[in-house]
Order: sequence, then structure tokens, then C-alpha cells
Amino acid sequence: MYAHHNCEKRGSRADEARLQGMLFMTTYVVSQTPGLSGEIEINTAKNAVLPILAASLLTKEPLSILRVPNLTDVQTLIHILRDCGAEVKEDDGTVTAFAKNPHNPSDEDSIRRMRASVLVMGPLLARTGYARVALPGGCAIGQRPIDLHVKGMQALGAEVVISSGCVTLKGKLKGGNVYLDLPSVGATENILMAATLAEGTTRIENAAKEPEISDLADCLAQMGAKITGAGTGTIWVEGVKALAGCTYQPIADRIEAGTLACAAAITKGSVLLQGARPEHMRAVLFKLQEAGVQVKESRGGLRISGRAAHPFELRTLSYPGFPTDMQAPMMTVALAIKGTSVFLETIFENRFMHAQELKRLGARIRLDNRVAVIEGGAALNGAPVTVTDLRAGAALMLAGLIAQGQTEINDPQGNIARGYADLPEKLTRLGAKVEVKH
Ligand code: EPZ
Repeated sequence: MYAHHNCEKRGSRADEARLQGMLFMTTYVVSQTPGLSGEIEINTAKNAVLPILAASLLTKEPLSILRVPNLTDVQTLIHILRDCGAEVKEDDGTVTAFAKNPHNPSDEDSIRRMRASVLVMGPLLARTGYARVALPGGCAIGQRPIDLHVKGMQALGAEVVISSGCVTLKGKLKGGNVYLDLPSVGATENILMAATLAEGTTRIENAAKEPEISDLADCLAQMGAKITGAGTGTIWVEGVKALAGCTYQPIADRIEAGTLACAAAITKGSVLLQGARPEHMRAVLFKLQEAGVQVKESRGGLRISGRAAHPFELRTLSYPGFPTDMQAPMMTVALAIKGTSVFLETIFENRFMHAQELKRLGARIRLDNRVAVIEGGAALNGAPVTVTDLRAGAALMLAGLIAQGQTEINDPQGNIARGYADLPEKLTRLGAKVEVKH
């Protein structure tokens, strides 16, 4: 039942990076493009699909997820689910996962490869009474600890041992009270999933309120879970004996929509984002409007037009505050505006790496720990830049739209494809010139 494996057995980091590089190395060449225009269908949200995929381990029945975007992060999690003994079928965007007898993943590398792999912890523990996952190796934007995930599992009665880079959790879960020191999205999702099968009542306080949490809770409820308060700071769960499968359409990707809205704003274009959910994007839409961009809700979507004209201040916060994932794309909006804009990144300790690369294009940005001061309005000139993390990559692609000439974007780890299924194609459809060279 339990796959024991030695956590020391590790492909070396260098090998893995080379493997990743070989597998995903991509170069994009973006030409300056004024006035993006047209209509674009927004994909299903990556950060809703990933936890819902992990939730398939909670039931022995099939869980079907509709319109799943073609992302490497999704493929990596599907690989991990198969490694946990689930059967996963992909058919024209619908992913059906079937976990009759789940066990622990044996492939350490893929677990370490992606932060969201920690989301199999809660479901495996709740379903099998045992879970063993590698401590995530951190990533470019920060340490990414999982102490709150582990604290939550302990509150549900799990025995936890952390040794040689792995977390081992054991026990039959009982409902308990969890207080999260930080409204962590992943920890809230992990604990919520584990609590659905824990015996008795669980209360999660200072829970994250992101729309993806409510979406996961809606899917779990369709599977028979008893949850109230998802989307608020306090979530209650009444454990049940077993969950059923279901067919579920997760929400639209508010970060993809926000990224494309920034592209329309900086090129002074007019773009209709079909399927975007304005009610999930209030902070981003208000900030764009504050900067002078026109935002209109129209027939099942959002029309973004006009130009950004006023510098602005921005502070990233947990939902419903301004989302940290939109900080990098929004920096290109500040660059397109004459004047001084100030950004404060309060969520991750190292999420300004795109600033260094934007400066290669001539951007005037001063960094001081978690503060960035952007002197917008200077002309940008195309140059080779490097992608350091997913949202930084999107920001560089957007900056290429307003930099004179061509901007070559080197993406050694394929970070852009991790979170954007078809950003180059979508920008091209809106009139941009984005060449993809593998
Ligand atoms: C989710 O990551 C998203 N990923 C991230 O999106 C997003 O940036 C983040 O939430 C914040 O909104 C997915 O949903 C797959 P957190 P997650 O736990 O769950 C600290 C993208 O670009 N923390 O809310 O890892 C942590 O270090 C990605 O799509 C602890 O200290 O974020 C961070 O500083 C990037 N201990 C802060 O909380 C813990 O146990 C927020 O992290 C957990 C987190």
C-alpha cells in the first residue's frame, strides 16, 4: 500500500535543471506592436485546476474536469497522479482521473519540480492514512515553505516526521481547529481537502479567500463534501465517510485575463476578454481604471481599451487585495505611463526579478527589498532578456510589445508555458508579432 522510497535518491539538481532546460527551453521574439485589438477566449484557471486535480485522489470514482488548459504544470501534476496509482485520461481538454487505490508517488523529481505537487499531501493522507512528499525545493520567487500545510495536518491528528528532505504524515484524520498564521492558498486547499474525509468537524480560521478556494469547495461539495464558509476567512467542514466522483468546469483564469488586459492597456488597444469573470478581478480592474484604462463589462466578458495615463501605487495582498501574480504584468503598465509608480510586494520575498530584465530594455526601476519605484514613460528598446519565473515571463512578453524593435525572450525552464497555455498565439491573434523558437 505504501510506496517507501529513499528521499536521498535524487537526480542531481544540475541534471534536473539540464533535463528541464532540454525539455522546455524556448525562445520568443516579440516585435513592437501598437494597438492590440480583437476578441480572446479566457482559459480555465490553472490555480483552480491544480487543486481540483489533486482532489481526484479523495474518491474511488472518476472525477472529470472540463476545458483543462494545456499547461506543463497540469501535465506535471497528471504525471504525479499517475505515479500515485490514479488512472488519468485526457480527451480533447477533458481530464478524467480515477484513483481506486492511491499510494504515494515514487518519482521524487516530479514532486520536487512543482510547488503545487504538495497538494497531493492532504488527499493522500485523508484517503490512505499515509502521505510522504518531498519538501519543495523552493523556487525563484521565494522559499515557499509548507509549515502551515503540516501544522494543519497535525491539527487533524496526523503524526508528522520531517527527515532528509521529506515530510511523512500518518494517521486516521479527525476534525480539528486550525488557525493559519498566514492566509496561505495552498495550505487552505490542502487542509480543506483532508478535512472532507476527517471524522467530525473541522474549522479553518484565517483561511485564504481566493476564488480558486471557493471553486475547489464547490467541486468538493458536488462530490458530497459538507463545507460552509469557503471564500470567507473561516471555513467549516463536516467530514463524510466517502466522496463520489463528478464532472466539473472550474472558473476562468483571472490572472490570464489580467495579463491580457495589461497588454491591451500598454499598447493603447481595445480587446474583448470573453469568459473573464470581473467579480474575481476587482482589485486589478480598479487599479487599471485608476491608471486611466477603460474597463467595460460586456456580453459575458470584459472590454479593455484606452490608454494608461496616470501613475499609480500598488500593494500586493491576499484576496481580495491586489494579487501578487499580477504584480509583474502590472509593472509593464507602470512603464507605459509617464511618472513615478510605486509597488510594494508583501506576499513573496523575491518577486521583482523581472525588474532586472526590464532594465535591460531601458526601464528605469529602483528596487529596495520589497519596494519597487518605477519611473515610467521612458522609451524602451528591444534586447535579449531571460525569464526567471512564470509571471516575470509574461511581463517580459508584454514589455516586448512596447519596446522598439525586437525583444528576444529566453525561457530556459519553459516557465511561460507552465502557466499560459497559448499566450504567444493569443497575442498574435490580437495583432502582435510573437515568434516562438524552440
Ligand atoms: C498559490 O501559491 C498560487 N499557486 C501562486 O501562484 C500564488 O502566487 C499564491 O498562491 C499567492 O496567491 C497555486 O495556486 C498553484 P501561499 P501558494 O501558500 O499556495 C507563505 C502562479 O504564478 N507560506 O498563499 O504556494 C509563502 O512563503 C503561482 O500561478 C508559508 O510561510 O501560495 C508565501 O510567502 C505563483 N508557509 C505566502 O505564504 C506555508 O506553509 C503565500 O503563499 C505556506 C505559505
